[in-house]
Amino acid sequence: MDPVRMERRQILRFISAVILLTSPLLTSTLENGLARTPPMGWLAWERFRCNTDCVNDPDNCISERLFMQMADLLVSEGYAAAGYEYINVDDCWLAKTRDASGRLQADPERFPSGMKALGNYIHSKGLKFGIYEDYGNYTCAGYPGILGYLELDANTFAEWNVDYVKLDGCYSHPVDMDRGYPEFGYYLNRTGRPMLYSCSWPVYQIYSGIEPNYTSIKSSCNIWRNFDDIQDSWQSVQTIIDYYGENQDAIVPHAGPGHWNDPDMLIVGNFGLSYEQSKSQFALWAIWASPLLMSVDLRTIKPDYKAIIQNRKIIAVNQDILGIQGRRIYKDRGIEIWARPITPVVRSDFSYAIVFLNRRTDGTPSEVSVINRELGLTHEAGYIVEDLYTNKDYGILTPDDKITVDVNPSGCVMLRFTVASAFQKTRLPQNHIFGLSSNINQDHRQLPQRLQWLARFPNIARSLEGADQLKKREVSE
Ligand code: GAL
Repeated sequence: MDPVRMERRQILRFISAVILLTSPLLTSTLENGLARTPPMGWLAWERFRCNTDCVNDPDNCISERLFMQMADLLVSEGYAAAGYEYINVDDCWLAKTRDASGRLQADPERFPSGMKALGNYIHSKGLKFGIYEDYGNYTCAGYPGILGYLELDANTFAEWNVDYVKLDGCYSHPVDMDRGYPEFGYYLNRTGRPMLYSCSWPVYQIYSGIEPNYTSIKSSCNIWRNFDDIQDSWQSVQTIIDYYGENQDAIVPHAGPGHWNDPDMLIVGNFGLSYEQSKSQFALWAIWASPLLMSVDLRTIKPDYKAIIQNRKIIAVNQDILGIQGRRIYKDRGIEIWARPITPVVRSDFSYAIVFLNRRTDGTPSEVSVINRELGLTHEAGYIVEDLYTNKDYGILTPDDKITVDVNPSGCVMLRFTVASAFQKTRLPQNHIFGLSSNINQDHRQLPQRLQWLARFPNIARSLEGADQLKKREVSE
């Protein structure tokens, strides 16, 4: 045999072996067509945790009954009509062991009908069914993980007609996630059933000092967590607000139709947030184009809080078709301004959702005034401006008009600036784009970082010296 041909044959054999071994990785890009706008639904974890005591606490334990009740209420209480569609099981649904053939199985006492039946029930309500697993040996609460069973488990979820899989990362090595998460995504895709893929991949890597490869993450996952678990407190929500503000350059560019940053669940309506704080959480989750996954007891939520999470105008901001994640454009002395470019767009001028957030704790509202142009609102024909919580109509404001809002402590004011057409000064339909020229995902980064600020705070000397003293006092407190 010709030694040159021999060598070529060996090389070819080597290349095909490499292709075979790495094929899941080569074909793992996200092909499920889901989450064109951020997913909306209900998720058990923050509110119901790992309560498995159905004997003493049958109403609140993790059981098929709980999920069926939440599915009923999602429909009967108007959440589904407002866009919430997923009912998502979290940790602690599993039996402690796999069945004789190695398949995952639900805890037989708490899910006596099994997961397929639960999925059928959820589907019978016109809703979608989400499930939880973990890339490691165990879930965070110690139930069987998927390691060693990736293909079997993806197939099992497809057989159960699952629509959404949250894959956590306890008991696994963050270095392995760069291979493991895409691999499981590949098996999910290969089932042929579209299943939204929620990943905890970046958060585990960030916490172990690895810089996440978002290019790879967004080509495998529909949504991904990048920060700590939310807890039932304003303190916890504020740590998330800070993370999203301080890391916006790293995370904002990766959000878009089909792939979103996930700051974790909505806790509106639980024990820890006041009414004002609840409005702030919901407004910011809309600005960030975040998944809206309520974790709340829909049997007992109070009407004011229900109204917040069913606010259609704010949901429309969250679901805006451009899918551009908003940014913090101003932060000083406890006042923050967040802005998100949305439709309608006229030529290259976006409409905007703007949130004025007051993180101060002095007891009176802070008055904040700013010239629209300083917010980046330069559309010469002006904007139709309205308050999305109070419905107050500000009429049409030009770039040189000043807007003044009173923002309650730990609360926010959320305004929508809808571009007015130069010809007809009437409302343009939402989701409309007229004559858009440049790259829309680039434009919003041009917003001024530092605004010429006209804020007036109660009880504070307006001189520079006064402001410095205030800063020092806040630091020492
Ligand atoms: C955490 C995860 C939570 C919840 C919990 C369940 O790691 O971030 O959202 O799923 O595990 O044990």
